[in-house]
Amino acid sequence: MPKRDVYTHGHQPAVVNQHARRTAERCAAFARHVISDDSRLLDVGCGPASITVGLAKWVPKGLVSAIELGGAILDTARSTVAESGLGNVKVDEGSVYELPYEDDVFDLTYAHQVLQHLTDPILALREMARVTRPGGYVAVRDADYYTMSSSPESEAIEKWRTIYRLVARHNGADPDAGRHLLSWCHTAGLQDVAISTSAWSYWTEDDRENWGFSWAERCLTTSFAEQAVEYGYATRAELEEIAEGWRAWATNPSGYFHFINGEALAHVE
Ligand SMILES: C[S@@+](CC[C@H](N)C(=O)[O-])C[C@H]1O[C@@H](n2cnc3c(N)ncnc32)[C@H](O)[C@@H]1O
Repeated sequence: MPKRDVYTHGHQPAVVNQHARRTAERCAAFARHVISDDSRLLDVGCGPASITVGLAKWVPKGLVSAIELGGAILDTARSTVAESGLGNVKVDEGSVYELPYEDDVFDLTYAHQVLQHLTDPILALREMARVTRPGGYVAVRDADYYTMSSSPESEAIEKWRTIYRLVARHNGADPDAGRHLLSWCHTAGLQDVAISTSAWSYWTEDDRENWGFSWAERCLTTSFAEQAVEYGYATRAELEEIAEGWRAWATNPSGYFHFINGEALAHVE
């Protein structure tokens, strides 16, 4: 039986629509210089696949495979790819713990905001390295939730961050994954690692409203909300107050939010 973790966010629309705004340009820039137009890439835990189709445009003479766990998110990923009209990308069902590929197949194996959800990120990195050819790369990028902060400071958003980190840890995952990527790569046997960091900031009206209203909704209608209540870290009333805090922040023209992403580009030997 393949290992199944609890996915803290859930795949409800408020989550998936937020993730679907991501692009390869913004989320894979740290690996762009090792990708050629004929590279063979794997996007692990591709979610709605908005990054995947961007990667496929970077490799017009190459191929992109993407994997997701199954269910509705797999269908969404396949629809995104079909709508893109690109012929060099396919989406497979599978888990990072047991990738459905032979050894040494990919030039670069990529996972964006995935390791932070896993109970065994080391096994995941080992498996990603297995399917990557010698001389290729494993590229991972994850947020560090501890660094998530807002202006103006908001008691509700601080409470959200505390509860989110407790829920993720309760699920056996590390919400601050971004800072651990170097050590996780080393433990997985990847010694030749280049680390970079990049911040996400939300302050334009569009970004601020999307992030703030989306998190307001996510505090009420997603798996995260259910788990927060079930595990005893918040009541429904507290989550309502937090959602209200997110809405207040989202409608403040001076509202600002940022956090750090850790990025590891590991050379496979
Ligand atoms: C935060 S989302 C990121 C999606 C996409 N990479 C992006 O950045 O837009 C994490 C994704 O990892 C997937 N995931 C979780 N555990 C996984 C596993 N064991 N194997 C493959 N994917 C997994 C989830 O289904 C989810 O869609």
